Amino acid sequence: MNRATPKVTVVGSLNIDLVCHAIRRPDKGETIIGDAFDIFTGGKGFNQATAAARLGAEVSLVGSIGTGPFGDLLRTAIKKEDINSRFIIRRTDIGTGIATIVVEPDGDNSIIVVPRANMALTTADIDAATDCIADADVLLLQLETPIAASEHAAAIAKHHGATVVLNPAPAQPLPNSLLGYVDILTPNQSETELLAGIPINSHDDARRAAETLRERMADTENSAVVLTLGEQGTLMLTETTSELIPALPVQPVDTTGAGDAFCGALATALASGENLQSAVKFANAAGAAAVTVIGATPSMPTRTKIERLMSTTHADLTEPQGK
Ligand code: RIB
Repeated sequence: MNRATPKVTVVGSLNIDLVCHAIRRPDKGETIIGDAFDIFTGGKGFNQATAAARLGAEVSLVGSIGTGPFGDLLRTAIKKEDINSRFIIRRTDIGTGIATIVVEPDGDNSIIVVPRANMALTTADIDAATDCIADADVLLLQLETPIAASEHAAAIAKHHGATVVLNPAPAQPLPNSLLGYVDILTPNQSETELLAGIPINSHDDARRAAETLRERMADTENSAVVLTLGEQGTLMLTETTSELIPALPVQPVDTTGAGDAFCGALATALASGENLQSAVKFANAAGAAAVTVIGATPSMPTRTKIERLMSTTHADLTEPQGK
C-alpha cells in the first residue's frame, strides 16, 4: 500500500553543530591543531525531520529553540526544508541547543551535546501540538528532549493509531512507561548494550539483546527492534523473523547524522504504507548515503540518491534467517 502523502511528526531536538575536522580527537589534557571548521544545523530531531521532508513526507517538528543567531539559523533552515514549524517554541530565557563535534579523517565522530532549550520542552507544549501528533501516520522520537514530553507525545499518538518509532539516542536508561508505547525501536550497538545490559560480540548476542528489548515494548506481537550495527548492517527483529540486512559499501567522509537519515527514511517509508522489511532496506540505504556527505543536516539524502545507491549495489544483499 502506498499513501499519497505520508505524514510524519517528529518530537525532538534542534541544535547548531560546531564541527572541527582533525587528524584525531584530543586526549585528556591535550590541545591539538585541527584542519577545518564548519557550522551546520543539526540535532537529531531536526535532522530526522529534514530526512523525512526531503523524502516527500509532510513533516511537523515539535521542539524548542532559543532566540539569538543560532535560533535564527535554525528558523531559516526549517523554512527551507518545508517543515511545519508551528510547534517550535522560541524561548527567551535559554540558548539554542549546541553540539561540538570532532570528525576524524575516516569519517568517525565524537559529539558533546549541550541541549539547553531542547530540555525546556514540556508536556504542555506537547498538548498544544496534539492535533499534528494525532494526525500523523508515524510519530518519531529521540532522546535529546525530556522523556516526559516524549512519553506524553507517544501516548497521544498511540491513542490515535499512529506508529511510534523511538530512536534511543543518545543512550540512556528508558522507563518501561515510554517503551510500552513504542512500536519500533532503532538503537545502535552501544545503545542496545546499555538498554538490554548485554554486551554484543556476535550476531547471536545482537539477536538476544534485541529480543530482550522487544519484550519491553508496546504490543510484543507487532513490535520490532531495528538494530543498526554500522559496517555489519542492520538487524531487524520481529515476533516471527530475524533478518540481517548488510550495510551498503560506501566510502565514508563523515558519519554524523547517518542514524538520523536512517530514522527519517524509515519513518517516511512506514508512513507511506511500506512493510517493515522494505522500509528497513530503504533506511539502510539512506544511512549509507548520509555518510558520503560532510555535516549532519546537509547529509540527509534525497530519494533519487537513495534509489541510485540501492540500484548500483548488489541486487539483493539480504540474508534471511529463521529465528
Ligand atoms: O545525530 C547527529 C546529531 O547529534 C548532530 O546533528 C548533533 O546535533 C547531535 O544532536
